[in-house]
Amino acid sequence: MTDINATYQLLCDQARETTMLARIQQLLEWDEQTKMPKAGGPYRAEQVAYMAGLVHKKRTAPEIGEWLEQLTQSPLAADLESDTGSNLHHLRRDYNKKTKLPQSLVEQLAKACTLGQQAWIEARQADDFKKFQPNLEEIIRLKREEATALGYEKTPYDPLLDDYEPGESTENVARILSELRDALVPLVQAIAESSQRPDASLLARSYPTDAQKSFGTEAARAIGFDFNAGRLDVTAHPFMTGLGPGDVRMTTRYDEHAFSDAFFGILHETGHGLYDQGLPREHYGLPLGEDVSLGIHESQSRMWENQVGRSRAFWEHFFPQAQAAFPAALKNVAIDDFYGAINDVRPSLIRVEADEVTYNLHILIRFELEQALIEDRLQVADLPGAWNEKYEHYLGITPPSDADGVLQDVHWSAGLFGYFPTYALGNLYAAQFFAQAEGDLGDLDKQFRQGKFSPLREWLRKNIHAQGRRYTAAQLALRVTGSTLSHESLIRHLASKYGKIYGL
Ligand code: CO
Repeated sequence: MTDINATYQLLCDQARETTMLARIQQLLEWDEQTKMPKAGGPYRAEQVAYMAGLVHKKRTAPEIGEWLEQLTQSPLAADLESDTGSNLHHLRRDYNKKTKLPQSLVEQLAKACTLGQQAWIEARQADDFKKFQPNLEEIIRLKREEATALGYEKTPYDPLLDDYEPGESTENVARILSELRDALVPLVQAIAESSQRPDASLLARSYPTDAQKSFGTEAARAIGFDFNAGRLDVTAHPFMTGLGPGDVRMTTRYDEHAFSDAFFGILHETGHGLYDQGLPREHYGLPLGEDVSLGIHESQSRMWENQVGRSRAFWEHFFPQAQAAFPAALKNVAIDDFYGAINDVRPSLIRVEADEVTYNLHILIRFELEQALIEDRLQVADLPGAWNEKYEHYLGITPPSDADGVLQDVHWSAGLFGYFPTYALGNLYAAQFFAQAEGDLGDLDKQFRQGKFSPLREWLRKNIHAQGRRYTAAQLALRVTGSTLSHESLIRHLASKYGKIYGL
């Protein structure tokens, strides 16, 4: 007679150990992006590949299959919403997916992606796509192999998307994004035709980077980031990575003549960081202690960056502090001119600098191109041309160089295919959650004006962060907001806000 509880403990111990190894790998990767000298690259690639192989081996150990077999039939698995039922459901789903991938493929991919990122950095600096082309071809070949090993019915893009947005389908995402696009295009046109134009040039005045660092850090602290349990460092391409309970790493980059880049980047990563700091510690290392999906993660960053950080109420609180921090740039600026400048809407080349309205069109371009690459309808050699054509089509502009075009994002060099659409899903979830929070908490603007951010943060903590991975993204949205994901809340938010700014 096997003791079911003892078996469950063995399974949980193994999962916690695997999480620990995965976090060690992430620490190597964080170091590579922030501190590592360039010459350390090739050996670091070997280290990361080794760790990825080790993690994969742990996650796919045959005894896990035996334990899961026993446990799935047991009372512990009966209730999907119980702690044990939820953990077992996710561990089983992850195990089934992981065991389909051969060890050699996992190691090849890890190495190709580390070398890919190094090649991407050089290609971007040299503005020379050809330096990166063979790496990207290799990565896509391996990702197609991965999709085949995982299996799919409709498109090889489906199992890749599922890595970041579990349970979501390419077809559903394509439908929601096309509905969003149909509602966005007339809004973008109306804004473009408006005679009211904010002067965004005031954000390109001199904002000393030391002052940017302390002002951004104070804002992150004010909305609730715990710096005893996290750090902020400098990198080429900003990201957040959770290395353990009590260790959340955020990164940013500073440009003296671009205030928005670092400041809204920091708010964005702080939103991610708050999610990780709010995950239930008692479940750390198990699915219940993890985030739901990248879309839900991104909803947290976009909410603090946009719904909160680009609101007029937020700046009624922070603008006097900003004027004190950057007297040369802001001393004689009126708050409405500043508010207009940070909400300037215009088609632009760089995704991470795009405004709240056109941002989703940048995502749509990447979503369409990466589907075509993975489905073998587009060759890597033709990618720069296809990229430029889409920018002309959706945004009416053509990148003057590949560095500001197809080479601007790190994702493909890191093998992250299926990742981009989660940014747009994040915008949609953010708007839907924020509308519900306003319904539950009353006038949020009034609270922001007083510098009170804890009611919203605690609402997010209770309804989203503390739930861990108990529900899928779709279930969570339904539970928290009473409706499934749609483009409507986001369009309502954008139309109302930008209607006022642009006098529509
Ligand atoms: Co993000």
